[in-house]
Amino acid sequence: MRICPFQPRPTMGAYAQLDPLQQREAPAPKRPRGATLFAALSVLFLLTFLVLIHLRLRGDVTDGPEGSCGDTCRIVLVESIPEGMSLGTQPSTFEAWLELLATATRSVDIASFYWTLTNADTRTHEPSAAQGERILAELLRLPRRGVAVRVAVSAPSAKAPLDDLKALESSGAAVRAVDLPRLTGGVLHTKFWLVDGVHLYVGSANMDWRSLTQVKELGAAVYNCSCLAKDLGKIFEAYWALGVPEASIPAPWPDNFSTSFNAETPLELPLNGTAAAVYFSSSPPALCAAGRTQDLAALLGVVDGAEEFVDVAVMSYLPGTEFSRPERFWPAIDDGLRRAVVERGVRLRLLAGCWRHSRPDMFPFLSSLAALANNRTRFRVDVRLFLVPASAAQSRIPFARVNHNKYMVTDKAAYVGTSNWSGDYFERTAGSALVVAQPAGGRGGGGGGGAGTFREQLQDVFERDWSSGYSVDISDTEGWSSHCGRR
Ligand SMILES: *[C@@H]1O[C@H](CO)[C@@H](O)[C@H](O)[C@H]1NC(C)=O
Ligand SMILES: *[C@@H]1O[C@H](CO)[C@@H](O)[C@H](O)[C@H]1NC(C)=O
Ligand SMILES: *[C@@H]1O[C@H](CO)[C@@H](O)[C@H](O)[C@H]1NC(C)=O
Ligand SMILES: *[C@@H]1O[C@H](CO)[C@@H](O)[C@H](O)[C@H]1NC(C)=O
Ligand SMILES: *[C@@H]1O[C@H](CO)[C@@H](O)[C@H](O)[C@H]1NC(C)=O
Repeated sequence: MRICPFQPRPTMGAYAQLDPLQQREAPAPKRPRGATLFAALSVLFLLTFLVLIHLRLRGDVTDGPEGSCGDTCRIVLVESIPEGMSLGTQPSTFEAWLELLATATRSVDIASFYWTLTNADTRTHEPSAAQGERILAELLRLPRRGVAVRVAVSAPSAKAPLDDLKALESSGAAVRAVDLPRLTGGVLHTKFWLVDGVHLYVGSANMDWRSLTQVKELGAAVYNCSCLAKDLGKIFEAYWALGVPEASIPAPWPDNFSTSFNAETPLELPLNGTAAAVYFSSSPPALCAAGRTQDLAALLGVVDGAEEFVDVAVMSYLPGTEFSRPERFWPAIDDGLRRAVVERGVRLRLLAGCWRHSRPDMFPFLSSLAALANNRTRFRVDVRLFLVPASAAQSRIPFARVNHNKYMVTDKAAYVGTSNWSGDYFERTAGSALVVAQPAGGRGGGGGGGAGTFREQLQDVFERDWSSGYSVDISDTEGWSSHCGRR
């Protein structure tokens, strides 16, 4: 599995110089025996030293202030269900955010794309903005309670509302705009929260009142889990470091940004008392320190690891670049999905979001994927579109009423991300994902009242949406064409 290009550390360089093989291949100057023995002993010593350092680092991370953080980690699948829809019983994003804010005693760090938590921001008069307004009010109260608030936000465009960010600054919060357009040609699209270095949220919800009541969102809240929170904290620190004027991307990133938790060596710990192997991926590649799995590699790794099924729910799916010019064909994910179907007989179901702003070229690519399904070859692919219904009043809310989910669930793992599935998000835009490997087993081991593991809960949510009356098969053009991609 590919991880971020490994940046050799100075110590590794020193090791290479001492490599006895290399020395043998060098045009051999006369070398006394003693020197060779000395070199060999040095190598041995250095290796032992490196192994010890490595173990020490992992030990440090695992033994949080609460002792072994692994015993206490609690994970909750949270969703926002747009008003008026009858779906689901998961705890809401709003409840999780309120709990995180109520719990905070020391620090709150938020990585965000943009801020529109109030009606004033969107020039609307919607009662359903009340939850967003409440979240902002709670956030503004934190500095007075002695909680240090840091907000990393994508450099706002000229038209973007700034009221929330200004209010945060005057409340005492530190706000940094990260100029990713200049640094990588993308935006800061990541959405996650870190509280007191021990709790976190990651998912599709923006700092937008509509993300609580008018847009369908999915994420994970993790409580009392210092080892995971510390690791996500390293990604936050990278955004924070890039949020100063004239910042440039360090290459390599300093050692303290690197991680030992990745696709190859995930953190093994119980979530709600059930064994899991967990890591965070990050994009774009330039923002990955040593050891961090790139988001694309994480996504493809989860697809490649599936043996029975891959279920994907994502707002937009395009084997191309969406924003950067010239437009390019970008089949990395599409290839991975087709390979799973064709080579391993995996059953693929893809549930895409659609609204009037959908890119028209998403649909032929979705149909093309669905066209693989064939009774004679037994390729199993189904593609559906999820439509969020809207009353006349609701359809007047700008940029709302859409399925904004960005997750995947397989028989082996859950992948909860923050990126649309198209090229720019993995090559230029900052995003991240929580990957939880929890192989299928007997149900009821979740410790959450027999509700199943996190992965199983995600599977249930997918199943609920897939078979709901809100989803339409891609071949049923009449069912969706008047709603999707017709701005
Ligand atoms: C964290 O664990 C402590 C001790 O078990 C518990 O009292 C507290 O409620 C937990 N916090 C959260 C947010 O779950
Ligand atoms: C690494 O150290 C530098 C300098 O002390 C600091 O600014 C940065 O935030 C640290 N990074 C992490 C991930 O802690
Ligand atoms: C995801 O894709 C849609 C459709 O192309 C786009 O409107 C949206 O801005 C993208 N990013 C987000 C916010 O998820
Ligand atoms: C496969 O066969 C079933 C019934 O045997 C039929 O309903 C379905 O339309 C067929 N699917 C395709 C893609 O040919
Ligand atoms: C974990 O436990 C909490 C209650 O403590 C529950 O709300 C949540 O659904 C559980 N999560 C899983 C994945 O079982």
